[in-house]
Amino acid sequence: MTTTTTTTLTVEQKASLTSGATTWTSQGIEGVVDALHMSDGPHGVRYQGDEGDSLGIASSRQSTCFPPAAGLASTWDRRMIETVARTLAQEARSLAVSVLLGPGLNIKRSPLGGRNFEYASEDPFLAGAYGSSFVRGVQSQGVSAVPKHFAANNQETDRFRVNAQIDERTLREIYLPAFETTVRQDHPWALMCAYNKVNGEYASQNRRLLTDILRGEWRFDGVVISDWGAVVDRVSALAAGLDIEMPPSGTDSKIVDAVRSGACSIDTLDQTVSRIRILADRTADVRIKAKEPIDFESHDRVARKAAQESMVLLKNNGILPIDPSSADTIAVIGEFARTPRFQGGGSSHVNPPMVHDLLGELGEALPQATLRFAPGYRVQSDHRVDEALLSQARRTAQEASVAIVVVGYLDNDESEGMDKTSIDLHDDQRKLLQTVIDTGTPTVVILSGGGVISIGDWAEHCDALLEGWLLGQAGGAAMADVLTGAANPSGRLNETIPRALDDTPCRLNFPGCDGQVLYGEGLYVGYRYYDTLDLPISYPFGYGLSYTTFSYSDLRISQLGQGAQGAFTVTNTGSCRGADVPQIYVASGQPGRPAHELKGFERVELEPGESKEVSIDLDMRAFSTWNTRQARWRQYPGQYRIELSRSSRDTQLSATVELPGDGYVASLEAMSTIGEWSESPYGAPIINPLVQGIAENMGGGEPSPEMKAMFMQMPLIKLASWGIGISEENVDDMVRRANDLRCATETVDN
Ligand code: BGC
Repeated sequence: MTTTTTTTLTVEQKASLTSGATTWTSQGIEGVVDALHMSDGPHGVRYQGDEGDSLGIASSRQSTCFPPAAGLASTWDRRMIETVARTLAQEARSLAVSVLLGPGLNIKRSPLGGRNFEYASEDPFLAGAYGSSFVRGVQSQGVSAVPKHFAANNQETDRFRVNAQIDERTLREIYLPAFETTVRQDHPWALMCAYNKVNGEYASQNRRLLTDILRGEWRFDGVVISDWGAVVDRVSALAAGLDIEMPPSGTDSKIVDAVRSGACSIDTLDQTVSRIRILADRTADVRIKAKEPIDFESHDRVARKAAQESMVLLKNNGILPIDPSSADTIAVIGEFARTPRFQGGGSSHVNPPMVHDLLGELGEALPQATLRFAPGYRVQSDHRVDEALLSQARRTAQEASVAIVVVGYLDNDESEGMDKTSIDLHDDQRKLLQTVIDTGTPTVVILSGGGVISIGDWAEHCDALLEGWLLGQAGGAAMADVLTGAANPSGRLNETIPRALDDTPCRLNFPGCDGQVLYGEGLYVGYRYYDTLDLPISYPFGYGLSYTTFSYSDLRISQLGQGAQGAFTVTNTGSCRGADVPQIYVASGQPGRPAHELKGFERVELEPGESKEVSIDLDMRAFSTWNTRQARWRQYPGQYRIELSRSSRDTQLSATVELPGDGYVASLEAMSTIGEWSESPYGAPIINPLVQGIAENMGGGEPSPEMKAMFMQMPLIKLASWGIGISEENVDDMVRRANDLRCATETVDN
């Protein structure tokens, strides 16, 4: 625990604090600042000895593997996310880990993203809700959460160097908000910078991101830690706002030299030291209190509940749930039913104390039934169709009253460090599905993978389809629970399932080349693209079925200052207990904005016949857009449609709200257009007489509409070169008068 002040430290001691001591620990100074143990990660504590690796290669101590973000974010359940994070942090405490490297908050820009399994959504609002709940849970245990990777780490290809070229509005509206919400609402004590460059500057030395935006605008008061090996230039990184380089590169002397030569100010170093000291204080309890042994059994129950809620039921013609009392012969097909894929590869790879497989769990859940298993495909394969395995699967299905087939991505399809090359099932698995379906035995398909898998023609002929993501160690048990109705599915898609890779918005710009990736689709990521253009998709964002049904009624919208509140009633109209996730989308109708955007949701659990009143607050930001010219969030006055929906494609009720706008009036400049001058309350009294005079000089008649349009687009200063007696001095004078009037009239900087 920190005891004495840092003022007496030498420059060398201070510099030593800005890098790790080992791969997993920061430097400490006896009696001044504790060394902190850091571990991945996002869905399990990957505790390694001091000299482990960051690639998930070396083994780690046992810890519970919870559903990775692809699954957990599909719960749309803030309480569940918080519970998982809290339990994760309890394991961290047991292992004396002060700093837990997660959650992953990067946006799933393309379904090819190799690390999508570690990220929450294609939508920044959902990812922000995920990040906030996660940080709340972790930090409730005195352990620091570390949202990562800040910012724009949306691909694995060339991840250490690639330059993400993103326009400012897209950055503000899509790629930063999940971090912003998490920082502003739940105050993480640390944050991890990304490897890549953002608009020409490495994230690790990007002053605009690390200092101006993160600390200046969002008031982040924690420590910025580098991604493992992300620092390129120690001194620039420190000056930009990066506090700790992990793991150490042995270059602390560069910091010392920079301070001595004046290239880096001692104040900068002192601020970093003070932030690290605060982090040590905030997490001191972890190192002081006695370590509780990990209760693996109870944590497994948390993992199982989370996995149940993570699954998304995409199709069900009534075959599910399987009635345990009448189940007879069931074919369980697919190697994943026996050897589950439950986590992805790389730094998040944990070593769980137990793993539940569907085959074993289904046997326990359906004791009267006869289960017949056929592997159907090999997991270490070149994906060639194996006729012997197919024949065995065919026979197994033919002899059963129902077939359950588990297919999906293999370990070497998706991992940290590589992007996928396809979102289609491999040939052997596709053929297997077709073979089983062709037997005529009713078929349930479960998809397993860290990201969406395209839905082939086979889906039309299967009887039920479940998105099973990667579900952590208890995934097999949770699948059995959902199949038998012990759990009622309530997950909702956190990303759209497109029909094919070629339909995806960044198809032509992912993953870029020659070190450059252009975010050319701009704001139009995921459903923002598909819905704005009304394109066909397989399953929409936010979609998911249940074994019961729900209805929405009585939508009321009230204006609340510059935001609004939506209130409505949800009723369970079916015959079993279940949970629904009503979603609120806002449609501004303004040009240049997506058709609608998710701005609120709530998960509601209901008994059959039960109704609950739900209210969702929509703050000012829910109606705002980033204005790049004015470099600020703007809420324009007007009508906004509020949609109460089951998914981005299924609006049940809607209403409009009239908002006054933020009242901000931009200052006028010589380059402001004549249109902007005439729309401004301060510009109009100056420009209108001038425009009138010009029209009269030009013959007095009413100018044609195209002439008027052209004129309105023209910057005021251009009149100075028209030879109509307006000089640059006149323009300067007009600018001064307009802005004097603006300053005198109101508080302009709201
Ligand atoms: C990953 C991080 C991880 C770190 C430490 C890096 O390769 O990008 O997410 O936290 O390693 O394992």
